[in-house]
Amino acid sequence: MMLRITHNADLTRLTTFGIHAECGCLVEYDSPDELRQVADEHHGLLSGEVFCLGGGSNVLFADGFYRGTVLHCAGDAIEELPPSDGQADSVVRLRVGAGVVLDNLVDYVAARRYWGLENLAAIPGRVGGAAVQNVGAYGADFSQCVELVRAFDIDRHRVVEYPAEECAYGYRQSYFKTPDSPRLAIFEVVLRLSREANPRLGYAGVREALGDTPQEEITPAMIAEAIRKVRSAKLPDPSEVGSAGSYFKNPVVPAAELPGIEDSWERFCDRHSVAHMPLQYHEGADGTAKLSAAWMIDKSGCKELSSGGAALWPTQPLVIVNRSGSAIAADVLALQRMVQDRVEEAFGVRLEPEVVRL
Ligand code: EPU
Repeated sequence: MMLRITHNADLTRLTTFGIHAECGCLVEYDSPDELRQVADEHHGLLSGEVFCLGGGSNVLFADGFYRGTVLHCAGDAIEELPPSDGQADSVVRLRVGAGVVLDNLVDYVAARRYWGLENLAAIPGRVGGAAVQNVGAYGADFSQCVELVRAFDIDRHRVVEYPAEECAYGYRQSYFKTPDSPRLAIFEVVLRLSREANPRLGYAGVREALGDTPQEEITPAMIAEAIRKVRSAKLPDPSEVGSAGSYFKNPVVPAAELPGIEDSWERFCDRHSVAHMPLQYHEGADGTAKLSAAWMIDKSGCKELSSGGAALWPTQPLVIVNRSGSAIAADVLALQRMVQDRVEEAFGVRLEPEVVRL
């Protein structure tokens, strides 16, 4: 593909929610040179509001119309790089275009028996988006494989590099999501994978899905397949039901707040004659606790909530789906608030959306 500029573009096909959306201008590009060309020849397109859209799997256009410019990177090259100085033989370095579909990359590396990305199988989205929101699942996250992120600085018109240490990766978090970040269009990522086996099977269901395969015979492809099975049992199939994956983040709170949350939950159970169960959370090493939002949504009785065409997915209520196929953004936002209000009433904690709303 070459540079393509479309005014008043329809974005519906570029998002996984399947909710109608348009934008003032869509710029589809492969390389930073093309972005420089846009900056030089069509300056107005980049001087106002700009949003970088990857696989559209974590975004909701709240008004159905985005008046700014949407940048969409189509660069989908994958190239193996020579080892850097002093690097162990087991290390594999790959340069990957931001437009590569993450699940295709998982297949590419699994076929070559490179370890690192196998637990991220079947996550919708592209590599650029994965580098921004640090996608994670089944005990792994994207940042664990990132060596370097390359981006076009939209205001300074030049290519900039961010080594992993400068990306400030955390749970569904990175420097690129903070207000400190300049306006960037990520166009490629250098990943560091390994030839050495490192199966991560800690997550309930993953080991079981591998049957009785002995640990030393397990390959990245087998894990990817097992993860696909586990995911498809719980999560909607994006080709059948529109969604943006987990709509909310799991709340991370100081562990000291747990007794207060537990109190609020007990009082809610008494008031509503709900059977009380102890809170579900994982304590982190840093004095924080990550609560299970799916559990909170389920136990506070949100599962049946819906709004217009939007509903919660029955086996993973963290996911808001376009159940009717004709939901509008306002349906999703109304359901978001209903869930937030109910969970806050029950636990005194307000869930934060993970999905980017524009
Ligand atoms: N649960 C319920 N009721 C339900 C469903 C689940 O109580 O109806 C409870 C279960 O008891 C389970 C807990 O919720 O123990 C957690 O569920 P799950 O294992 O699916 O994990 P999650 O924390 O809800 C996160 C990610 C998912 C990722 C899974 C697996 C976030 C926001 N979501 O979900 O990511 O696939 O872990 O690692 O962190 C995504 O981001 O789009 C996504 C799907």
